[in-house]
Amino acid sequence: MENLRKLSVYFLLLCFTSMSSTLEIITPSQPLRDGRNETLISEGRIFEAGFFAVDSKRRYVGIWYRNIPEKTVVWVANREKPLHDASGVLQIDSDKGILRILDSKGIETWSSNNASKQLADNPVLQLLDSGNLVLRHAKNMRSILWQSFDYPGDTFLPGMKIRSSIKTGQYIGITSWKSLQDPSPGKYSMHIDTKGLPQLVITEENRVVYRPGPWNGLGFTGTPELRNIKFMKLLYGLSEDEVFYEYSILDNSTLMRSRLVPAGFPLRFVWSAQTNRWDNILPSPFDQCETYDFCGPNANCSSGRSCECLTGIKPNSSGGCLRTTPLECREGDRFEKHQGMKLPDTSSSRYNKTISLGECEELCLRNCSCTAYSNLDISNGGSGCLHWFDNIVDLRQLAEGGQDFYVRVYAASGPAKNGMDKRKLAGIAIGCALLITSMVIIGFTIKKKLMHPGKAIYWKDKSSQEDVDLPIFEFSTISNATNQFSEVNKLGQGGFGSVYKGILVDGQEIAVKRLSKTSRQGMDEFKNEVLLIAKLQHRNLVKLLGCSIQNEEKLLIYEFMANGSLDYFIFNSTKTKLLDWTKRLHIIDGIARGLLYLHQDSRLRIIHRDLKTSNILLDIDMNPKISDFGLARIFGGDQDEANTNRVMGTYGYMPPEYAVHGYFSDKSDVFSFGVMVLEIISGRKNRGFVDPHHRLNLLGHAWKLWVEKRPMDLTDEQLQDSVPSSELLRCIQVGLLCVQQRPEDRPNMSTVVIMLKGEKSLPNPGEPGFYIGRDNQTLADSIVRSSGECSINEASNSTILPR
Ligand SMILES: *[C@@H]1O[C@H](CO)[C@@H](O)[C@H](O)[C@H]1NC(C)=O
Ligand SMILES: *[C@@H]1O[C@H](CO)[C@@H](O)[C@H](O)[C@H]1NC(C)=O
Ligand SMILES: *[C@@H]1O[C@H](CO)[C@@H](O)[C@H](O)[C@H]1NC(C)=O
Ligand SMILES: *[C@@H]1O[C@H](CO)[C@@H](O)[C@H](O)[C@H]1NC(C)=O
Ligand SMILES: *[C@@H]1O[C@H](CO)[C@@H](O)[C@H](O)[C@H]1NC(C)=O
Ligand SMILES: *[C@@H]1O[C@H](CO)[C@@H](O)[C@H](O)[C@H]1NC(C)=O
Ligand SMILES: *[C@@H]1O[C@H](CO)[C@@H](O)[C@H](O)[C@H]1NC(C)=O
Repeated sequence: MENLRKLSVYFLLLCFTSMSSTLEIITPSQPLRDGRNETLISEGRIFEAGFFAVDSKRRYVGIWYRNIPEKTVVWVANREKPLHDASGVLQIDSDKGILRILDSKGIETWSSNNASKQLADNPVLQLLDSGNLVLRHAKNMRSILWQSFDYPGDTFLPGMKIRSSIKTGQYIGITSWKSLQDPSPGKYSMHIDTKGLPQLVITEENRVVYRPGPWNGLGFTGTPELRNIKFMKLLYGLSEDEVFYEYSILDNSTLMRSRLVPAGFPLRFVWSAQTNRWDNILPSPFDQCETYDFCGPNANCSSGRSCECLTGIKPNSSGGCLRTTPLECREGDRFEKHQGMKLPDTSSSRYNKTISLGECEELCLRNCSCTAYSNLDISNGGSGCLHWFDNIVDLRQLAEGGQDFYVRVYAASGPAKNGMDKRKLAGIAIGCALLITSMVIIGFTIKKKLMHPGKAIYWKDKSSQEDVDLPIFEFSTISNATNQFSEVNKLGQGGFGSVYKGILVDGQEIAVKRLSKTSRQGMDEFKNEVLLIAKLQHRNLVKLLGCSIQNEEKLLIYEFMANGSLDYFIFNSTKTKLLDWTKRLHIIDGIARGLLYLHQDSRLRIIHRDLKTSNILLDIDMNPKISDFGLARIFGGDQDEANTNRVMGTYGYMPPEYAVHGYFSDKSDVFSFGVMVLEIISGRKNRGFVDPHHRLNLLGHAWKLWVEKRPMDLTDEQLQDSVPSSELLRCIQVGLLCVQQRPEDRPNMSTVVIMLKGEKSLPNPGEPGFYIGRDNQTLADSIVRSSGECSINEASNSTILPR
């Protein structure tokens, strides 16, 4: 009885509260009250504005799509000042002509704060179908006192303008949220930088991290894929006073939004009525060449990870491409034409709209510090002139849609001096002493034993029970072993520097990782890697033989792996044939065991954080060995999860919780492992995976096949015949289990090893993380979705059902 009465009270309450009212206009005498569940809607009922909750404690005034079931917030007024209960009011102050939010005590927590000089005669607030919230005079549609489009949040909508003042450099841009549950301004901003030729940039605390670049007449030089979207039109304008960028949608029934997610990159979504979800329409731009200045100055970044110095510039002793000779004009200077490029940083470039390409070359030739030129505008056959001076920064080769770029080759640039010949013994001594001092601080002491007289000294780790004797090689020993780090000896280029093959005097083959001075791997990462890996001994981990340091030169010396890295095999159509199913299974198994050792079996608990096929090396017998511990973290015995505000690693292999929130745990490695398993089986990359029939990435593709009950279709064409289907199916299932959205759903590595043995029946996998678009769309939106759910609704549902 009692229960029944309660139930009916709740029912009444529910009926009452759901009597929300929608307003089409707000006037000074009719404010919008949170308590009455009132909202403001646009004329065409596309957008809705009002109060919404992120969690039970924080309420905001915002704008969202009215007819989209998952609340998708596109703008927030009181980003930094949430209200703490549902008694807020949004009202117009007619005296000042401003909009303001009052809390339960009537205290102003936010205001549009644009005291208009015009007399605010009878102001009204209206939400337009574009999603623009406009405060205007009642009688005149055009006399706008204030509008939300002038104060963008993290969402860039059609019709909105990003703009900057040429004279002052002041800009209106997009700012990310702090996290998906916190709309307050985060670290990232997308705006137009006006230095030199204006360019679109994304900055992290005022430092450029990604650069779509200057406008080239057709679009931004770095995002040619944007030009190919048929239903969208890009607009750009540059005058003496102002530069702006906006886009419009040709078919106004298409709902599109572009969002700068908290992790700092833009995602573009289109609403799909068929599937009832937001589709990410473009792959994420983040291949490593997209990281601003990834290669350092005067280098060319191409196909993911390789950096090459521009013609005439030799890598100097620290691996960078800085010129060693001053810029000197000479008879015989010429220009080399490169096609398909993304133009480099234009912040110190000069441009002229009327100069032709021929004149442009001539003028560049006449000025010694002019190092490159290109057309300013490439539409209609090309026009205008753009000049670069001194260093060329952030140049890259594009897979498609790039443009011509002319680089000066100085006749005077003789062969670069060989920095290696000038090493000083004192330098070595000081360098090693520095290293040793810092090692002592973190628990290392030196054992002064020489391996080859004058060649290596050892340090020993006293903090662990194992006896770790790690030789420190003299720089000259390694330099000689690698033929002075010659290009011929170069095995590859990693995120933190180059890897060279070397042969020691006693005939031992080694791989030398030379950390570039320009790389972000500082002393800390170096110590981290050395410390970690020196203690690890497992047949599926690459073995560290020693290290070397001289001034800023840091070298790691590993055992040499005859067969290079796994990506070289599985993503190469001829090499992949060499990997039959038995070998692939052996590799999957080996990686799992190596990882299990890292997570559980070694005395330390280690999270690798950058697992990917290029970090799996293969020895002469095709045994896999995990390498590259530069990002690894040691966990305390009882620590399960950690947070970092510096998300590093490789997109495509990062799980959602890490890419967006920076949370990582052993389950992050499990996710990356799962991606690798699916890559090994399919012979295709998760990143850059393109299927002609849909827009899914590899994980999404695998999941789709799984749901459609034809998982075997994932298999590499090179394989199919020889494969026992039960083994293959099991591996696909394990792969999918490992890439599930929620870390807690993923198995740990000991379970994975057991699963791979096939002695257990496997649970059914759930949806993978990051699967809908080609990137992080699921997570970005699923979290917004869950946070956007109406908390009132939730409360009433759960109370009304007696349990
Ligand atoms: C508030 O209003 C919305 C429509 O604007 C409605 O869907 C919702 O059920 C209402 N909430 C409550 C608790 O009445
Ligand atoms: C207030 O905003 C309007 C519309 O955005 C703008 O035209 C006006 O210059 C602003 N006024 C002040 C004082 O900032
Ligand atoms: C869409 O365009 C049509 C034709 O141009 C127009 O009649 C209609 O009002 C537009 N709808 C919206 C929501 O803008
Ligand atoms: C950059 O590298 C690509 C691929 O190696 C090459 O085709 C292109 O010519 C290079 N461009 C420059 C400016 O060095
Ligand atoms: C090598 O390049 C680095 C930057 O990459 C620079 O600081 C250093 O001076 C250069 N060394 C020589 C010998 O030119
Ligand atoms: C562009 O070049 C032309 C021809 O050399 C010159 O007359 C003009 O002043 C230049 N414009 C600017 C803005 O420098
Ligand atoms: C070369 O161009 C730079 C940048 O425009 C300018 O500062 C410098 O004076 C020019 N040098 C000569 C010799 O014209």
